[in-house]
Amino acid sequence: MRHKHSDYMNWSKTQSGARFNLATSGVGPFPLRELPVNLDTLEINGSDNGYGYLPLQKAIAARHGVDPGCVVESAGTSMANHLAMASIIEPGDEVLIEHPAYGPILDVAHYLEANVKRFTRTEENGWAIDTEEIRRFVTPKTRLIMITNLHNPTSVLTPEPILREIGDIARSVGAFVLVDEVYLDAVYENTPRTSFHLGPEFVVTSSLTKVYGVSGLRCGWILAQPALAWKMRRLNDLYSATPVHPGELLSVAAFQHLDPLRERARRIVEADRKLVRDFLKQQSSLFAVSTEWGTTSFPRLLKGNADAFLERLRCHFETSAVPGRFFEMPDHFRIGMGVNTEMLAEGLKRIGRAISQASGQHSTLATALRAAQL
Ligand SMILES: Cc1ncc(COP(=O)(O)O)c(C=O)c1O
Repeated sequence: MRHKHSDYMNWSKTQSGARFNLATSGVGPFPLRELPVNLDTLEINGSDNGYGYLPLQKAIAARHGVDPGCVVESAGTSMANHLAMASIIEPGDEVLIEHPAYGPILDVAHYLEANVKRFTRTEENGWAIDTEEIRRFVTPKTRLIMITNLHNPTSVLTPEPILREIGDIARSVGAFVLVDEVYLDAVYENTPRTSFHLGPEFVVTSSLTKVYGVSGLRCGWILAQPALAWKMRRLNDLYSATPVHPGELLSVAAFQHLDPLRERARRIVEADRKLVRDFLKQQSSLFAVSTEWGTTSFPRLLKGNADAFLERLRCHFETSAVPGRFFEMPDHFRIGMGVNTEMLAEGLKRIGRAISQASGQHSTLATALRAAQL
């Protein structure tokens, strides 16, 4: 049986909610009433948007300095990743994916019956990509190397020289590099340009869903060379026929006001990052690689079982975070920033209280065990 589900998406939709919800990855919602858009110009049906609505394609292209023919509209980064992978991979092709990885990327690769191989980003190495590790795994059968930049779950940025090296490795075996850049605009200073410019082997996916607070628009895209982009549009005919036109119109409006949307998000994310940094400094039971950018942090619980801890956190402290097992790192958990600073502050306090309670229980148990041995 082919793999046909995502455990992470199912958990996220059904189990992640809590009064203090730190199981997020994107910034909080930007209200429609604050988007300067004339609702009288909104229409339900479009014409000539079968393979993309040109004003939106042009807006995406202009933002990235690419030709509109390289832009494929998609329903969020999820569909962008799916279309990109499905257009490139044939069953049995080798696909090299980072570890830890965002679960649905692996799920899609398995669904497409790829021969999935992994290269490791280690915590000791600050979750950086080790290109030697990629070089070791790549073979003439490798069709795709896939990474996220910023990395989900850790928010670590991969710099351009490393991306170029990955491009060189891919080119040497005729493979593509797929870079999911959905979090890249959460680098608020010297924001790197899209890796699409690094060479024809680069394919990029992204959306407005994470960094801009307009996830409901489902405005996503792929940047690919024109022939491959066309293949992706034709493949999308099998999935979603035509795009949702009111979404396209509102997405064009969002692009016209992208900078204020991003600035508003930046204020919340930066206030939250300070809280998370201060909190982690005080917690000897947690370790996390600190990052300057991004909307997530990925601490490791140094003692005890993280799954049991998160269960207790949700049941007794009304606080949620994403279990690291969804990133194949069961000792870790992911905290989100950028939604609501008061909520984050209270959620962090509650994580602190849950840790203290657990270490109190550990030392009571240890005392009882020592007493029993005497
Ligand atoms: C790395 C990564 N790619 C894609 C997605 C899906 O994004 P979208 O909501 O745009 O489909 C997520 C969502 O968390 C993500 O973390």
